[in-house]
Amino acid sequence: MALIIDGVAVAKKLRSELAAQIAAEKLAPGLAVVIVGEDPASQVYVRNKARAAEETGITSWTHRLPADATQEQLLALVAQLNNDGAVHGILVQLPLPKHIDAQTIIAAIDPDKDVDGFHPVNAGRLSLGLPCFVPCTPQGCMILLREAVTKTAGKRALVVGRSNIVGKPVAQLLLQADCTVTIAHSRTHDLVAECRSADILIAAIGKPEFVKGDWVKEGAVVIDVGINRVANPENPEKGKLVGDVEFAAAAERAAAITPVPGGVGPMTIACLLKNTVQSARMRI
Ligand code: GUN
Repeated sequence: MALIIDGVAVAKKLRSELAAQIAAEKLAPGLAVVIVGEDPASQVYVRNKARAAEETGITSWTHRLPADATQEQLLALVAQLNNDGAVHGILVQLPLPKHIDAQTIIAAIDPDKDVDGFHPVNAGRLSLGLPCFVPCTPQGCMILLREAVTKTAGKRALVVGRSNIVGKPVAQLLLQADCTVTIAHSRTHDLVAECRSADILIAAIGKPEFVKGDWVKEGAVVIDVGINRVANPENPEKGKLVGDVEFAAAAERAAAITPVPGGVGPMTIACLLKNTVQSARMRI
């Protein structure tokens, strides 16, 4: 039976370290979170981010724009936050409504306040191995990976999913950790064989229980990035959350695995706070 990597505990420890650093260094970090529209999942994420920031000693402001806000209105808000000295981190929650071009908005954020690490400058710096804001979910994946593996050099790492938010940046971090990295996606031939040869498997597809238990190599470490709400006969109102991996069957073969919920999710928020503290520290 696999080690279940406890993301809640690791995130809690990171947050308490950040709170201690804020107090010791007399930092006054500020995080501005922008949400456009009413997407229910985004509303929950944004509320959780604001609450976690306040609990850690980071001032947070949530800016809510209506679903029909124009791209120009959002750009004006980003410009205002870029110029606000109390704001060290700017996070525009994705996805944005269809009529707004997300890349235009991301490119308008000051790279020195881009605590999501999505700006082309930060993405480029990450790929060059230069100091930058590292995207939060990939950073959280690596911290959890290190709970289970100390020696990553030479390991075969498979990233399933090629998104800008998770797949591509986590592949960069695995490469920096000296893994032999493969990125698989919807056009990959024989995904099952790719999975079965992976010592480290990062699942970031966004499809409930897509990776089957018997695709997991014996002794592999599995990091499950998925958060999917599915039907639950025991709770038809709320359903239940599952990851991108068939957890119980995978846990029988893996050496270590992250659960959903309670794995990568809490780490994403903790790493956002870490990036915000890093930003505040850079501008003392
Ligand atoms: N939507 C889903 N994950 C994220 C994230 O990490 N940052 C932002 N801004 N939006 C998201």
